[in-house]
Amino acid sequence: MKKLTYLFLLAQLLLLGSLNAQPYKPSAGIDAKVNALLAKMTLDEKIGQLTLYTTDWGSTGPTIREGYKNDIRSGACGNLFNSHTVGFVRELQRVAVEETRLKIPLLFGFDVIHGYKTIFPIPLGEAACWDLEAIELSAHIAAAEAASAGLNWTFAPMVDVTRDPRWGRVMEGAGEDTWLGCRIAEARVHGFQGKKLGNTDAVLACVKHYAAYGASTAGRDYNTVDMSERFFREYYLPPYKAAVQAGAATVMTSFNDYDGVPATGNKYLLTTILRNEWGFKGFVVTDYTSMNEMVNHGVIADEKEAGELSLNAGVDMDMQGSIYQRFLKQSVKQGKVLQKQIDEAARRVLRLKFELGLFDDPYRFCNEERQNATLLSADHRKAAREVSRKSIVLLKNDKNVLPLQRNQKIALIGPLADNKSELIGNWNGAGNADDCVTVAAGLQGWSLTHVKGCDIEGSDKSGFDAALAAARNADVVVVAVGEKAMMSGEAASRTDITLPGVQEELVLELCKTGKPVVVVLMNGRPLAIPQIAQNATAILETWWLGTETGNAIADVLSGAYNPAGRLPMSFPRSVGQVPVFYNERSTGRPYNPDSKWTSRYIDEVNAPLYPFGFGLSYTTFSYSQPTATVSFAANDASKRYPKSPVTVQVTVTNTGKMAGEEVAQLYVRDLVGSVTRPVRELKGFQKIMLQPGESKTLTFTLKAEDLGFYRRNMTFGTEPGEYDIMVGGSSQDVKTVRVRLEK
Ligand code: GLC
Repeated sequence: MKKLTYLFLLAQLLLLGSLNAQPYKPSAGIDAKVNALLAKMTLDEKIGQLTLYTTDWGSTGPTIREGYKNDIRSGACGNLFNSHTVGFVRELQRVAVEETRLKIPLLFGFDVIHGYKTIFPIPLGEAACWDLEAIELSAHIAAAEAASAGLNWTFAPMVDVTRDPRWGRVMEGAGEDTWLGCRIAEARVHGFQGKKLGNTDAVLACVKHYAAYGASTAGRDYNTVDMSERFFREYYLPPYKAAVQAGAATVMTSFNDYDGVPATGNKYLLTTILRNEWGFKGFVVTDYTSMNEMVNHGVIADEKEAGELSLNAGVDMDMQGSIYQRFLKQSVKQGKVLQKQIDEAARRVLRLKFELGLFDDPYRFCNEERQNATLLSADHRKAAREVSRKSIVLLKNDKNVLPLQRNQKIALIGPLADNKSELIGNWNGAGNADDCVTVAAGLQGWSLTHVKGCDIEGSDKSGFDAALAAARNADVVVVAVGEKAMMSGEAASRTDITLPGVQEELVLELCKTGKPVVVVLMNGRPLAIPQIAQNATAILETWWLGTETGNAIADVLSGAYNPAGRLPMSFPRSVGQVPVFYNERSTGRPYNPDSKWTSRYIDEVNAPLYPFGFGLSYTTFSYSQPTATVSFAANDASKRYPKSPVTVQVTVTNTGKMAGEEVAQLYVRDLVGSVTRPVRELKGFQKIMLQPGESKTLTFTLKAEDLGFYRRNMTFGTEPGEYDIMVGGSSQDVKTVRVRLEK
């Protein structure tokens, strides 16, 4: 009898073992493996793969769930975020691959927005460098550091185009322009995902926030978005498409509604456009409880319906809402959603886990030695310094007060002159302020007198006297002012976009001393600083530059690096001008300073303080008259015509005494279209280094789609007629050649 019992037990163990052994041959293809695994999964286990929870280590929203370890153990949660470093990830992954029935590894996501440990400039600052290779390198280093710390998924790039500096999240994007936004989206996706998913210097990218979140009404975060389909497709949609076409593995839905339907339940966005038009194959994740928030939007009655609306719209994964976890099984039973939709969503998640190599080695991103060797490496800091100084925009330099001379006595003033805590900006990953180089530290070795003068906020002016005394005893004043890092980013909209506190007063008092005053701005959004623009001698826009702030700023102040940054977003003269942007339409009464009866204000000019594409250099540049040749008919912008239907040539010369880089920008205007068209749109740029006196002839090639738009019948294409092709050093400083597209 005993023998029979043993044999029976042995058979049970063998059966159990075979049940839980990998249900696929290691040599099988990924799809076969996914299908084989799906076939063994219960409905609960599949729903677990569609569930994403934050751990208790940091959270970016109201944390709903505790006990995430039990959720892993039970198979109810297949993905985590806000958990990183090798030790923490290894333990959580161990629970998943050793204490669950099917041992499916976890995804680990995190907001690695502008660096993981080595912090690079905020994305809006990086966009100012107009250097796609530098931007890709920055994302690649962020991915390598994140992947060395156990992560395999970043919630970036944020590609939301925006014209409204009141919105705090402008700091996360690439500014106001669609075309530049597309190029930068591509560079960031390539940087994050590297040569191949599964490499230990690559992570899944997540293009966000899909879609048009940057158009939040009144610049107030989480607010309604309302626009025509034409404007949506022409202006806000392209960067998401560019990121998807660059291979972004995942997409995150936005908090806002589009055309009355919240993005997280919007089938037009998530299925019609994303999957059917663009062929997106990855998975869609919600933003933080954005599924639950559809109840507040008022489009469904309860959270269970929110889950059904989301799954039917095309959402694969529920971030922190635990709606799929709580209700989806019941929804299947009631026929409100189909089992095959859940299978397809689980398939998309599992496929990426296989592509990351997590089934072959769940701990592939957990290597202590690699983590220690990668984070904050000398090479990464060097790269951060490079990218940071490229991101600095010289807005003013009267009397060539910059670069500073080594023998000058400097009065270093301002609340951000010797401040570490703000420099890594918002969305600063695992960055440590203590790793940062301050402006004062960057200027070590110079003859410096440092006086704070005032705080970033508050009305205390008691520090002014000491600051003014230091200024009077110096040859030049360098004053570092700006916002607090948390005054931009998520849930950080401002109605007043001037310098906070009494900082502007301090700067203006310093200007009254008659000493040259160099203002160093540190901020997460365009600021309205007309008084400073008028009275300061020089102004550097430095955004939040991250770990190497002080070294990058010192490189520019000293002339070791000639600044070449150009604004990715217009700077208004006042918040009353918002939204102010370069690519406006002419209107029926275009601005005429000599006529009251035109599109204007009675108390302000139309032009921004500093326009899109603007930035100075320590040298000067001149442009020849551009020439252009056209080689395609307007109504046949198909593949049958040459790829580059319009070729433009221009010669740029360095007319100054110092080598420097110029960003030659190419803009296009369709003079007469079947719908109103912008007075100019960026369609190309080239960043070139020129020695003093050197000239270079640049050739730009425009493809048909560069001249295309959504015509009156909403089809995309070109139209015959005249176009102005403009080339210059900013959106407002161009030379023009007119071309004609024949029928
Ligand atoms: C936040 C943000 C989103 C971020 C997510 C996870 O609410 O909107 O950008 O990736 O939560 O932290």
